This record gives sequence, C-alpha cells and structure tokens, in this order.
Amino acid sequence: MESVKISSLELENVKRIKAVRLVPTEKGLTVIGGNNGQGKTSVLDAIAWALGGDRYRPSTPNREGSVVPPRIRIELSNGLVVERAGKNSALKVTDPAGQRGGQQLLNSFVEELALNLPKFMEASGREKADTLLKIIGVGDRLYTLDREEKQLYNQRLAIGRIADQKGKFARELPFYEGLPEAPVSALELIQRQQEILLRNADNQRKRDRVQQIAGDLALGIQEMAQLEGQIKALLEKKTQLQYNLDRLKEDLEDARKSARDLQDESTAQLEEDLRNIETINIKIRANLDRDKAEEEAQGYQEQYDKLTGDIERTRQDRMDLLRGARMPLPELSVEEGELTYKGKRWDGMSASEQLRVSTAIVRELNPKCGFVLLDKLEQMDISTLRDFGIWLESQNLQAIATRVSTGGECSVIIEDGSVEAEPLPDLPRMPLEKWKEGVF
Ligand SMILES: Nc1ncnc2c1ncn2[C@@H]1O[C@H](COP(=O)(O)OP(=O)(O)O)[C@@H](O)[C@H]1O
Ligand SMILES: [Mg+2]
Repeated sequence: MESVKISSLELENVKRIKAVRLVPTEKGLTVIGGNNGQGKTSVLDAIAWALGGDRYRPSTPNREGSVVPPRIRIELSNGLVVERAGKNSALKVTDPAGQRGGQQLLNSFVEELALNLPKFMEASGREKADTLLKIIGVGDRLYTLDREEKQLYNQRLAIGRIADQKGKFARELPFYEGLPEAPVSALELIQRQQEILLRNADNQRKRDRVQQIAGDLALGIQEMAQLEGQIKALLEKKTQLQYNLDRLKEDLEDARKSARDLQDESTAQLEEDLRNIETINIKIRANLDRDKAEEEAQGYQEQYDKLTGDIERTRQDRMDLLRGARMPLPELSVEEGELTYKGKRWDGMSASEQLRVSTAIVRELNPKCGFVLLDKLEQMDISTLRDFGIWLESQNLQAIATRVSTGGECSVIIEDGSVEAEPLPDLPRMPLEKWKEGVF
C-alpha cells in the first residue's frame, strides 16, 4: 500500500489561525515560515487534532475573538477527507465513495509519533533504542547477546581475581634448587647402606683369608724346618706337604689377585643425608606445594583467557546482528542499550541530527504513514535543511515543518494567523526545484 500523505489542508479559526490553505509538496519538505507568534505551530496542532483524535485537542481550540467555531478540512492521498467543524468540532471522515469512517480508520495509518515527534525526542535513550530495535526486529536476540556478554564479563572478572590471587600466592611460596622431585625415603637409603656394608664385609673376608693362608704357609715352613732331620722318614709326608704348599701358593696368588684392587665405598653421604632427611623433605614438600599452586593459578588463567574469547565472540555476534539488520538510517545503531548515530548518543548529536534520526525512525514505525510534522526547524542551517529535504524525498516522506524565518526556503509565510497574500485558487506550493538547486 502506498503510504498516506496530506494532499491539502484548510484551517479556519483554530488557535492562532484565522485562515490557512496549503497544498504541501507530496514528498520532501514543506516549510511554514513566519515570525514568532504568527500561528505556525497552530497549523501543526490543528493537523494533529484532526488526525490524532481528541487526545490532541488543544485546550482552547477556538480562536480568541472569533464567533465562528474552528473548521479543519484535510484531504489525504488515499482519498479520505477528514473534517472537524461545527460547535462541537465533531470528527467526520469520508472516503471517496462517500462512506463514513471514524478515528479507528485514521489510526490504521496515522503514526502517533509522526504527529508528536517531541514524544519520541524526549524519550530516554533506552526507550529510543527499544523503538529502533522493535523496527529492525532484532530486539530479543540483541538483548540475549547483551545479557550473555554481561554474564561472561562478570564471570571473567571473578575468575580473573582468583587467578591473580592464586598466582600471587604461588609466587610467595619458597622454592629450593637442586633437590629430587619426590621426597627421599629413609628405608631406601638404609637398604643402600646395608648393601654396601655387605659388600665391604665380603671384602673383609677375602682379606682375612689372605692373612690366614699366609699364616698357614709360615706354619708349614716352620714344620718343614722341624722335619728337616726326619726327612727320610717323613719323605712321603714331605712330598705330600710339598704338594700342599704348591696348592697353597697358587691359592695365595689367586687370593692376592682378587684382593689387590679392592676399593671400599663410602657411606658418608648417605649418613649425612640420613641426618638431614627431615630438613630436605620439608623443602621438597614446599617445592611440591608451590608446583601445585602454580598449576592451579595457570588453570584459572586459562579459564580467564577462554572467557575473554567468549566475550569477543559475543561482541562480534552483536555487531554482526546489527550490521545485518536494515537500519532506518545508515550509521544508526544501539550501543549498551542506547540509540547511537555516527557513534554518538542522543545528547551528543546536533539538533538537526536528532531531527533526522527521529524522522527516520518514526518513518519506519508505520510505513503506511507517509508524513511527519516537524516543529521548530530553525535548528537547521540552510544547507542542512537542503540535505534533509533531499533525504526526505528519497524516503518518499512528506514533512510539514515550521521555521522562524521569512526567507526563500519557506514554502509559505504565516502572518497574523493567515498565509500571507494567499493566492487562490492557485495554492502555494513548495518550491521544490529551487531546493534542489540550492537557490532561494
Ligand atoms: N485559541 C487561541 N486564540 C488566539 N490566540 C491564541 C490561541 N491559543 C494560543 N494563541 C496565541 O498564539 C500565539 C502562538 O501561536 P503559535 O501557533 O504557537 O505561533 P508560532 O508557532 O508561529 O510562534 C501565542 O501568542 C498565543 O498566545
Ligand atoms: Mg511555534
């Protein structure tokens, strides 16, 4: 459905208005100019009352000094004629076929904020953001992402604190260099000591044997001397003895050989270690405690880093979501629940940026509504005004605006409640071409 525009306007005796007729330009800006207090805002008030219903009824609609009641007649581009007239200013809505309608019919295509832009402009940053999110249809998903991010952030904060504490704790614990990784066992040291003592005893036995054999030999030699005189009788015994002696010599040689390179091992270090075993083990346990603490701190650090990744991803999702959404205006966004334009929050935008943002959002709220009322457009300088007019045209949006000015940028000038030098029946029109050329 083509959006609905205001095709023509006739006002008499409404508030400050005596008589105003106007054919607004179909798309783009229609600027109602004039000095202060001449009735510009009264024109917009009358339109809001006619189209928005009793909620927009001025407190004193009748023009002071007029005996004739207010009369409003608005023709809309969908063929409807909206009138308020008579003593009670009753609403009358007629369609092209002559059928009657009422406020409900008007409400189906008249966007409330298009009649009352200040209502949007005065809303909080969060309410504005909510309106935008509703339009682009990503509100729920964005809230989920924002909540997720917040949760992850808090989680990471807590983990980060623990990681810091644990790391600090680990670094403060003592550490000893050059010690075995596991505590030393006394039993093992004793076993090693006993093995060595056994080997040493064996060596001693071999040494004793050398001694003994040497003694035997000496005895034999002595005996031999004693037996010198009895050689003859004892020859057999001598032969035997000689044989024994030879054996013993050989054995002696062997025994000597095996005893020659014997080296006894020292148990001094083991004894020392045994004496120090408690001190050493205290240090080893301290090292183990420190390793454990460091490992724990490392674990928390890893969790922290993972959460950082999660937060980055959530932020990216959020950016993708907003980037993927079709915004009413380029560079509109929502950051931390607040509406932003070109990266600025509402209070950082210029007055004309605020107007443009509001208009763009209100435009999208109800695409059936093809017009918007803008009071006090003097906030825009001429070139901003021109850009705004061109943008409105590109949006197929009709804006009826007021501006304290009597310059060439005005479509009509209101003076003392009337359109100055009202040329009838050729109603004044917006000088569209002049706009585009930028000459007034
Ligand atoms: N019902 C009324 N009858 C006559 N004058 C009115 C009425 N209501 C307001 N005014 C006067 O109209 C003037 C404001 O009109 P307004 O349309 O706001 O002018 P503008 O927007 O051009 O400054 C004020 O001086 C106010 O006292
Ligand atoms: Mg005004």
